[in-house]
Amino acid sequence: MIDRRTALTGLSAAILSACTGEAATTDAAPLKSFLTAPLGVAAMTAEFADPQWQALTATHFDRLTPEWEMKMEYILQPDGSHRFEAPDRLLRQAKLNRQGLFGHALVWYAQDGAYFQNLRDDKTRFEAAYRAYVHAVVGRYKGQFDGWDVVNEPILDDGSGLRDCLWRDVLGDYYIDIAYQAAHEADPACPLALNDYNLEHTPAKRKQFLKLVDDMQKRGVPLHVLGTQTHISAALEPGALKATLRDLAATGLKIHVSEVDVSLKEAAKNALDFRSYRAQQMRQIEELAEAWLSLPVAQQFGITIWGLRDKDSWYNRDQKGLLADEPLLFDDTGALKPLGQAFVKALR
Ligand code: XIL
Repeated sequence: MIDRRTALTGLSAAILSACTGEAATTDAAPLKSFLTAPLGVAAMTAEFADPQWQALTATHFDRLTPEWEMKMEYILQPDGSHRFEAPDRLLRQAKLNRQGLFGHALVWYAQDGAYFQNLRDDKTRFEAAYRAYVHAVVGRYKGQFDGWDVVNEPILDDGSGLRDCLWRDVLGDYYIDIAYQAAHEADPACPLALNDYNLEHTPAKRKQFLKLVDDMQKRGVPLHVLGTQTHISAALEPGALKATLRDLAATGLKIHVSEVDVSLKEAAKNALDFRSYRAQQMRQIEELAEAWLSLPVAQQFGITIWGLRDKDSWYNRDQKGLLADEPLLFDDTGALKPLGQAFVKALR
């Protein structure tokens, strides 16, 4: 018996591809061949057992970014010891396919585990432990990574300043500089990135991000790459992506479009809506490609897509209800969607 949901999904996919005049394809040329800089994808060790994931990531991508297994939450244990099992596997996986590995992320407001919470009343010990953590993680992989997100998401959502977090509470604004200095000491040749989101969505946040970058540069902090996550909605204002890459590039630093996905669900509230937003979604990915191509080649650090197939997206994990988001370039069967085809066409 045909499952009613499968039948409906198949039917709506057919109607939709008829509407857009394009269908998903399984024989696409390697996506990475359309860029001069590396094309990356978010990865988790749990995905390694999936042969389709293995084949598609090996064919289409030159770089992996650990989706969460190199964050402090994974590595740092409450007693201060470190767990490197998944990070080591991620590095082995990347090497197997001659891919680069991009480290993500050393210091994040969202992760401040028990070990550091317990040290918060002793600034001297806290600072020593903070430096030691960054040193240990970066140093372990010295010479083997394409780069590191050192501080992730430091700016408040409304752009009014730096976020409050444990690191800032104890160390002051200087927490940022300390992390970059420690990472640079541990691996002097490693490109170090500052990464944040909504830089296209909220111009005030972009401005504050750029002010931080300017201050860091004036203070001589070792900062080499600016990461703009690019978790965007299909309904993002046209022109926002271009303005963002242009403004970031004016710093002279390299640009990493670091966590790309284009959500339909954020704009569309039901399945029928999805149809109209797909066209806007495609225009966003085309604008991203055009903005990317207008960067000086020397400033192109890379583009990273935040997951392989729609079902791998963080938006669809623990999904409630029937309506799944469709933010990525490949569909659940592993075919390159019209969205992915539009991306490479615009990159050509
Ligand atoms: C997300 C991952 O996708 C999830 O799997 C994890 O549970 C939480 O983090 N900005 C970032 C990423 O810098 O690390 C986040 O990734 C998405 C938002």
